[in-house]
Amino acid sequence: MTQQPAQPHDRMHAVTPETRELVDLVLDYSRRRILSEDTPLDKPLPEYELRRLAGQTVSENGIGAERALALFEHVLAPACITTDHPSYLSFIPTAPTKAATAFDLVVSASAVYGGSWLEGSGAVYAENQVLAWLAAEFGLPATAGGVFVQGGTLGNLSALVAARDAARTERGNPAGRWVIVCSSEAHSSVSSAARVMDVDVVAVSPGESGVLTGDAVRPALEEYGDAVFAVVATGGSTNFGIVDDIASIAALKSDFSFWLHVDGAYGLAGMLSPLARDRFAGVEQADSVIVDPHKWLFAPFDACALIYRDPEAGRRAHTQHAEYLDTLTETTEWSPSDYAAHLTRRARGLPFWFSLASHGAAAYRDAVTASIRLAERVAEEIERRDGFRLVRQPQLSVVVFERDGWTKEDYSLWSARLLEEQRAFVTPSSHAGRPNTRFAILNPLTTFENLVGILDTME
Ligand SMILES: Cc1ncc(COP(=O)(O)O)c(C=O)c1O
Repeated sequence: MTQQPAQPHDRMHAVTPETRELVDLVLDYSRRRILSEDTPLDKPLPEYELRRLAGQTVSENGIGAERALALFEHVLAPACITTDHPSYLSFIPTAPTKAATAFDLVVSASAVYGGSWLEGSGAVYAENQVLAWLAAEFGLPATAGGVFVQGGTLGNLSALVAARDAARTERGNPAGRWVIVCSSEAHSSVSSAARVMDVDVVAVSPGESGVLTGDAVRPALEEYGDAVFAVVATGGSTNFGIVDDIASIAALKSDFSFWLHVDGAYGLAGMLSPLARDRFAGVEQADSVIVDPHKWLFAPFDACALIYRDPEAGRRAHTQHAEYLDTLTETTEWSPSDYAAHLTRRARGLPFWFSLASHGAAAYRDAVTASIRLAERVAEEIERRDGFRLVRQPQLSVVVFERDGWTKEDYSLWSARLLEEQRAFVTPSSHAGRPNTRFAILNPLTTFENLVGILDTME
């Protein structure tokens, strides 16, 4: 076929020397970045500084791909902290495998629509294999299934919407307001979901250990009765990596009627390791679970696996109905859009699928186990050092500690200096009103020496 010269209206879409060059530029950059072994941590810049360096980038006639990419490489990207850096230890980091990151490009290049079986059956098949593998790891029945959504926040919201829908169908609306019971250490996204749904949260104190138990949950169920449509257990809290006593909470199902949701956004991946697997006993009784591959399953942003024990409950709650969608919704085919609060979706489970299919599950088990071991080792080091105090023994891969006598301001100044010197990204935190800091360890390239070097800066 002879190539027609590009018309003014298709110059952005047609394959021309200009678009070829543009694609080469972008792929060259991506290749360099993915294979780079020394991308600095980088740091944020104030807006006035970015305005000075980057100026006005959007204009009527464009600035050209070369200039736009150069701006990204030299000005914009260095103003973004490198979240997959081995010394990024704040919040919950990300550490995508090379395979997963590279395949993210393939997902975009292939223009796959991941919302329906009709349009994306191949992608949905692969995503569903990953979901089935995860469900089996968690001990859920072979009929369990779900969808990859954008993140844990949307995963929790979608699961809780399905939970309320199921309760409403089963017993109608309560006399008062609907209630979610969870730990006071549950992630903020549970309260966010409650606000969106206009329901109440009853936060139960888990006590000193931080582990929510069935005994602590029972009084809330007795007090709020049928108004409770869901109990959320956390499978790895964000601040400490603490796993609730899921089995004792699940046991309450014999006396009360509620949907058990396990928020394992960060921690549920810990089940892959024999070192942590037992901590999650009871998860096999959950009605829904989430785990974020962009956290401890080494996939790029943004992906949360939401799995329902009975996927029909998710489908009943979430399928959108419209005349133009009838062709999709009047079939029995598995359309991922039907299982969460979304419609159009990127096949965001594919980068994880590609890496898991390529490397196999054992490599994942090893990587998760390595994080747990490293957390244990650095916790011992902290306990050994004078002037340091471990706030709690790590259960998974988060290590929280205090430096004797340090105020909130001391932690802030120290943290800012670490980033300024490009040594590490470790932010201040607190527990029960006492300032502290934490290492959230999940990058397999993080070493004991990295961590000891950071501790030395606190001496
Ligand atoms: C336990 C837990 N749940 C939910 C979330 C929210 O996930 P996302 O940031 O992907 O929305 C997080 C995030 O760190 C988390 O740690």
